[in-house]
Amino acid sequence: MKLHHVIESQQFTVPTLMELFNLADSMEHIVARGGTGDYSNRIMALLFYEHSTRTRFSFESAMARLGGKILATESANQFSSVMHGETLEDTVRVVNNYSDVIVIRHNEVGGAARAAAVSSIPVINAGDGKGGQHPTQALLDLYTIHREIKTIDGVRIAMVGNLADGRTVRSLAYLLGKFDRVKLYFIAPKALQMKQDIIDYLQHHEVWFTEEEDLRKIINEVDVVYMTRLEPVQREGVDPTHFYMDGPLMRYLPKKSIVMHPLPRANEISPEVDADPRAAYFRQTRNGILVRMALLASVLEG
Ligand code: CP
Repeated sequence: MKLHHVIESQQFTVPTLMELFNLADSMEHIVARGGTGDYSNRIMALLFYEHSTRTRFSFESAMARLGGKILATESANQFSSVMHGETLEDTVRVVNNYSDVIVIRHNEVGGAARAAAVSSIPVINAGDGKGGQHPTQALLDLYTIHREIKTIDGVRIAMVGNLADGRTVRSLAYLLGKFDRVKLYFIAPKALQMKQDIIDYLQHHEVWFTEEEDLRKIINEVDVVYMTRLEPVQREGVDPTHFYMDGPLMRYLPKKSIVMHPLPRANEISPEVDADPRAAYFRQTRNGILVRMALLASVLEG
């Protein structure tokens, strides 16, 4: 399987997604035997202009398990030549000479696309701006649904929190819109509901969705509850219990449903939920290694 740039969820087709997931499955064997040396002559550059724990470490771990080497700059806005006024484009042109793939998290929507426009090596978007996209998170989220619910067609998913700015839910909505009979429940304060570009996309593809303001109203109707953060300022004037998962509410979630979260969480999931087998958010992070190994292998073959 060959991929080049990975910039937004819309670029994927269902057959490509299934091929990627099969490759991710096969990566489990490589992880179990402690990795491979197959990519020992390949170098990944990480350009992170924003903080990260999971995305950065899981890409590093994925490349290490493939046997490749890693160049990384943390807080690139402070610790790279951006401090001297270097443009993103110039940085990317230079890093093209040092590595075989660039993984970039940028503070502006469209940052990864700008990088890809001047890059002859693959660029992977690790999150761009507030309200941009985070396609690799969405791919590992979809892979988690595929593994745990066993089907993506027909899945019913509640996305909860700040949907207007949340790049993970935005990318995941685009991916889910490619499957049949999916039902999307958008649970957010009115001011933080899904933006029009997603609504237009879903309407164009005749995907069922509804907008609600209280998770408790639909908890017993869904296969997946995908929680995201509401910042303290976004909680002002709203009832936080409408966007909160705790032990008592878990009693209404169907037995085979799961709770997901891209993490980091703030206080939208009570720690008492962690011990429930339906809490899938730490398994998601494990799946992220497999999916990112598959992505790296695909772009390095491309
Ligand atoms: N889920 C996610 O993107 O986490 P990080 O910000 O820690 O990378």
